[in-house]
Amino acid sequence: MYTFKDAYHNQVFLSFEHNPFSKTPRHVWVVCRYQNQWLLTNHAKRGLEFPGGKLEVDETPQEAAVREVFEETGGEVADLAYIGQYKVVSKGKTIIKNIYFATISKIVEKEDYMETKGPVLIEELPAVGIQQDDKYSFIMKDNVLQYVMKHVKRTFM
Ligand code: GTP
Repeated sequence: MYTFKDAYHNQVFLSFEHNPFSKTPRHVWVVCRYQNQWLLTNHAKRGLEFPGGKLEVDETPQEAAVREVFEETGGEVADLAYIGQYKVVSKGKTIIKNIYFATISKIVEKEDYMETKGPVLIEELPAVGIQQDDKYSFIMKDNVLQYVMKHVKRTFM
């Protein structure tokens, strides 16, 4: 288990075990790969981030992952693999996210990308300086991204 502070100084706990923090997480976050590129979404307020969000009623985390990727990028998930979970404790409130690695087979152009401006393909994420880069969302600015990208490269690439 790894623990560190996020960009807002909230405590974050990250683990690559199976459901380390909750069997019923309410959020998902999906690292997306499309044709040798990373598929991100451009959130209207937060900036560039891997897609994700909150589970709807009666939805499994896997279903939420597939839905969120499509809603926010138009990406169709061909394969979804569980990576791990992270927990953020902010002002007495705790959120737990399942992390997935998704292989995207196709990107469909859409009219509406919910609260985002749609898909953004990136060859390489910045190796340094992402914390200072205003284009990127705060959720890409803590060690979750660093550890998860290492894990993804080791496991899936
Ligand atoms: P709502 O009911 O829609 O408000 O959602 P929620 O309360 O279940 O969770 P929300 O998405 O609002 O997240 C609550 C807080 O958790 C945010 O204000 C952030 O500080 C933090 N948070 C959410 N997602 C992430 C994340 O991916 N990374 C980090 N570091 N913090 C996050």
